[in-house]
Amino acid sequence: MDLQAIIKRIRCALLKKTGASLPLTGYTEHRNTTKFIDGLSDGDLVRLNHLLHWQCFTVDRHGRRFGNAAWEGKRSEPQIIPDKRIVLMHDTFNLTDKHVLEVGCFEGIHTIGLSQYAKNVTAVDSRIENVVKTIVRCAFFGYHPTVFQCNLEEGPVNVRFLSCDIIHHVGVLYHLRNPVQHLLGLGKYVRLGVMLDTHYALPNEAIENDEINGIRYQYKKYNEGSDVFSGMYDYARWLTLDDIVAFLKTTGFKQVEILEKRSERNGPRVLLIAKKEEGVPLEGHIK
Ligand SMILES: C[S@@+](CC[C@H](N)C(=O)[O-])C[C@H]1O[C@@H](n2cnc3c(N)ncnc32)[C@H](O)[C@@H]1O
Repeated sequence: MDLQAIIKRIRCALLKKTGASLPLTGYTEHRNTTKFIDGLSDGDLVRLNHLLHWQCFTVDRHGRRFGNAAWEGKRSEPQIIPDKRIVLMHDTFNLTDKHVLEVGCFEGIHTIGLSQYAKNVTAVDSRIENVVKTIVRCAFFGYHPTVFQCNLEEGPVNVRFLSCDIIHHVGVLYHLRNPVQHLLGLGKYVRLGVMLDTHYALPNEAIENDEINGIRYQYKKYNEGSDVFSGMYDYARWLTLDDIVAFLKTTGFKQVEILEKRSERNGPRVLLIAKKEEGVPLEGHIK
């Protein structure tokens, strides 16, 4: 492990040690009607908040906290449902009759938003604790998506279980050790399109290089943390934006629209929508 990785781990450990002690009540913003939380007593909600090691929270109709912050400053604000990118997905693809696959579902915040719009939702995460928390949180909101553990990098990915119309792909690509293989595989199980929000490497940062299936590419080596937000391996490969677009096109998503580029603490980030041509049959697609 290099110095940068050690510093990152120490910083994370120190921050987590401070813990998150938030009040149960008094939240005025981002309240949600939460079908099976709104009627709980304060005592039962406190117990529920302690039963699982929640790392983010929503606010019920009465302004009470369901879940918890990860640590001071990390997901310490109420989560917004639905996230604006889900509304954007709906405006683009009309999710009403679509099956959406969400990768890296974390604790189910986007899963709930997607369930409000889509016909079917499948959500996966590599961490079993995130799978459990997603199932529990969604059930308390009155939704029952299909949720299971899946490490996107442990192949071969079962196309039968991941088959979908649209993929919701937020905050996961830059955690992968082999994002190229993952992107090139998407075309096999995603029928119509991708909503991708990810960090990327600037060309001058992508100084490492590798090859997959005879395709050479440059990347930035990024050291991963060890918390439940992170990837599954020591480091991830960050691709350049041009390569992300090129790999999406190679796997069949011929129309790629960059909707937003932003600069964040960890580096540059993009929001894009990629589409196949309507009606193109998919190799290996199982409805
Ligand atoms: C930064 S969080 C993003 C969570 C959520 N998508 C969001 O936008 O709030 C990354 C999530 O991806 C999951 N993850 C990381 N590597 C993964 C992998 N190889 N396969 C599946 N999920 C993974 C993590 O467990 C975590 O829940």
